[in-house]
Order: sequence, then C-alpha cells, then structure tokens
Amino acid sequence: MRCSNLVVMVVLSWIFFASSTHQLRYYETQILLQLRKHLENPMPLAIWENYNGDLCNLSSPPQMIIKCENSSVTELRIMGEKSVKVSEFNGFAIPNQTLSGSFSIDCFVTTLTRLTSLKVLSLVSLGIWGHLPDKIHRLYSLEALDMSSNFIFGSIPSEISRLVKLQTLTLDGNFVNDTIPEWFDSLTNLTVLSLQNNRLKGQIPSTISRIFNFYF
Ligand SMILES: *[C@@H]1O[C@H](CO)[C@@H](O)[C@H](O)[C@H]1NC(C)=O
Ligand SMILES: *[C@@H]1O[C@H](CO)[C@@H](O)[C@H](O)[C@H]1NC(C)=O
Ligand SMILES: *[C@@H]1O[C@H](CO)[C@@H](O)[C@H](O)[C@H]1NC(C)=O
Ligand SMILES: *[C@@H]1O[C@H](CO)[C@@H](O)[C@H](O)[C@H]1NC(C)=O
Ligand SMILES: *[C@@H]1O[C@H](CO)[C@@H](O)[C@H](O)[C@H]1NC(C)=O
Repeated sequence: MRCSNLVVMVVLSWIFFASSTHQLRYYETQILLQLRKHLENPMPLAIWENYNGDLCNLSSPPQMIIKCENSSVTELRIMGEKSVKVSEFNGFAIPNQTLSGSFSIDCFVTTLTRLTSLKVLSLVSLGIWGHLPDKIHRLYSLEALDMSSNFIFGSIPSEISRLVKLQTLTLDGNFVNDTIPEWFDSLTNLTVLSLQNNRLKGQIPSTISRIFNFYF
C-alpha cells in the first residue's frame, strides 16, 4: 500500500538525522509534512510551506497549534474550514465537502500513530471521511482526542478502550451511526465524552453514567 512506502522512507530519514536533540526531530517533522499532504494542504498549514525552522515554534492559534516536549510533538491542533454542510452522508467523498476520493483515513491514521508522544490531538473541520481505524489505539499517550465536524461514520472502535490515559473524547458533528459502546466506563480517567450530532442508534448504556460529563 502507498502509505507503507512512506513509512519506510521516514524511518530511513530518522536513522540519518536523529542526532539533533533540541529541535523537533527530523523524523517527526517529516511526519507532520506527510500529514499535511494527507489532509490535502488545508489553509492553516499553508505557513509550513517553505518554512525551514522548527515547526514547534510555528503555532497560529486557534487554527493551528503545535506543542513539543523533548523534541517530540505532544499537542497537535488543526482547525480547517470544511465544516459539515450536508445532512446525509453515504460513506463516499463529496466534492468541496470532504477530502477527495483518494484520501485514506487508514493511511492517515497510520502516519499519525508515528507521533507516539501525542497527548492532545484535535483535528476539526478538515473533511476527514471514513471509519475510525482500530490502530488509533497506538497513540497510547493520548489524553484528549477531538475529531469534531468531520465525516466519520460506522462505529467507535473498541480499541479506543485501550487509550487508558484518555480524559476527553469528542466526536461531535460526525456521522457515527452505530450503537454507543458499553466499554466507556473502563476508561477510568475519561471525564468528558461528547458525541453530539451523530447518527447514533439504540439506548445510552447505563455504564456510561459514571462519566462525569457526557453529551449526546
Ligand atoms: C523556538 O523555541 C525555542 C523554545 O521555545 C527557542 O529556544 C528557540 O530560540 C526558538 N527558535 C526560533 C527560530 O524562534
Ligand atoms: C521529557 O523528558 C523528561 C525527563 O527525561 C521526562 O520526565 C518527561 O516525561 C518527558 N516528556 C515527554 C512528553 O516524553
Ligand atoms: C452507517 O452508514 C454507512 C454509510 O451510509 C452505511 O454503509 C452503514 O451500513 C451504516 N451502518 C449502520 C450500522 O447503520
Ligand atoms: C467546488 O468549488 C469550486 C471553487 O469554489 C467551484 O468552482 C466548483 O464548482 C465546486 N464544485 C462543486 C461540485 O460544488
Ligand atoms: C488517571 O489520572 C490520575 C490523576 O490525574 C493519574 O495519576 C493516573 O496516572 C491516570 N491514569 C492513567 C492510566 O493515565
């Protein structure tokens, strides 16, 4: 698959350039640039173009925030301009609404999971479409995940229950169209769960009442 070749390239570059200790690692810079490509160069990331400095120093809130610790990205927030303007979504790319038909959420998340220090990830209104892949659980440091206002459909993968540090999960304004999982209460640190404006089915499981703030 196309995305696995990119990963090999990145690992090779990492071997050659891992020596820099203060700046963001070359390896992670390449991953950020790949993510930008996956997201089809959204507006808030235009300033990455022809910028050769440390991406950790380039935040422009609220549209784009990058925070780093020990030369690794710990926080990534991107807010695009593709807010959801349709009421129905059949699972295929929509011109001018979602990312294009060649976007692969699976490849995108594969690349994303190389940023293993990520604690806060917010990807809002970017036209991301597809099923949330199981492998998202590889972001084991994650404390907050927000993918509001995209075109995520299907179910919430049970592997999310392995993100034991998760405190906040927000998927508002997507097309999640399965039942609400029972396992949310196994995430002992989860205090905010927000799934508003989706296409959820069935009852709200009683196990969820332990979570302090939940919104449906
Ligand atoms: C980037 O930020 C670090 C620490 O926040 C600082 O030491 C460094 O001088 C900055 N570099 C640039 C090019 O602004
Ligand atoms: C950064 O390094 C310090 C000291 O080694 C460590 O305590 C801290 O947890 C590290 N932070 C991250 C995000 O890895
Ligand atoms: C969710 O929506 C997709 C796309 O419309 C559809 O293919 C799928 O069958 C739906 N799933 C459920 C559980 O309704
Ligand atoms: C998409 O947007 C472009 C530029 O705004 C416009 O020219 C084009 O007609 C739009 N296409 C559709 C299918 O709406
Ligand atoms: C849950 O939160 C507490 C208090 O902030 C913290 O000590 C603990 O390590 C967290 N648990 C996990 C699995 O991160």
